[in-house]
Amino acid sequence: MSIEKYAVIGNPIEHSKSPLIHQAFARQFGKQIHYERLLSPLDGFSSTIKRLQAEGYIGANVTVPFKFEAYQLSYPNLTERALSAGEAVNTLTFTATDIQGDNTDGIGLRNDIEGNLGFEIRGKNILILGAGGAAHGVLMSLVGANSLTIANRTLAKALKMITGLYHDYDVRAVEYENLNVRYDLIVNATSAGLTDSALPLPDRIFSSDTLAYDMMYGRETPFMHQARTAGAQVADGLGMLVEQAAEAFYLWHGLRPATSPVIAAIRQQR
Ligand code: ATR
Repeated sequence: MSIEKYAVIGNPIEHSKSPLIHQAFARQFGKQIHYERLLSPLDGFSSTIKRLQAEGYIGANVTVPFKFEAYQLSYPNLTERALSAGEAVNTLTFTATDIQGDNTDGIGLRNDIEGNLGFEIRGKNILILGAGGAAHGVLMSLVGANSLTIANRTLAKALKMITGLYHDYDVRAVEYENLNVRYDLIVNATSAGLTDSALPLPDRIFSSDTLAYDMMYGRETPFMHQARTAGAQVADGLGMLVEQAAEAFYLWHGLRPATSPVIAAIRQQR
């Protein structure tokens, strides 16, 4: 039997840890897979995907900046999770005639927070920072039996993000400066950390019971630094990266890999 082929597609893509993670998962089951990093031209995503499909690839992970194009390409063949992730798809599954789109970011975040960090989300007072693609991707995994606040530099985008949710959920949008209470869980879904920019957050939103979660990983962001200094528990997004990959792996292979050893191995490498 020929070896199953997978890829992660983005631009840039050279630092993606997805090949390492999927290969580590495959080894747990004694499986051999081909999993490559693929740099797609910015105007060539659709043809890259069509090529993979024609060449018999089973699936692909999609990262910045192609998640919306991946959504468009698989529309209307989308899972519930993809439909609720703000028009973003991070996992594609191919058949000869079809492309299915899924989004495993939200469940990846949840599984990291609840499974790895042991923090129960239900019934908590939650704050999401940011209203871009990353925030949209995880919004529906955090809404529910919780109180949810979205804060963003551009308030209009945060307001737009919760349009349609008012009736069913306890949600609101505010500016950073107007955050007045402490939160149980704060998720930083902004890209401010990429440029080492601090968010104008008041220290009063943190306490020693707060879990401050940054979706970025690799180094301490100004958000993580502020949260730590203010006494909060701090986590980065490496666990989410591995958990979203585990959901994609399950989708493709029907097998649930152990994630903790993979998270630990990547941490040790740094
Ligand atoms: P992503 O897909 O990573 O979410 P995005 O859609 O461009 O990228 O969204 C970036 C998010 O980070 C937005 O919420 C943005 O705030 P604005 O909507 O006000 O632009 C936020 N962000 C990025 N840099 C920031 C900074 N220096 N200070 C505050 N917010 C920042």
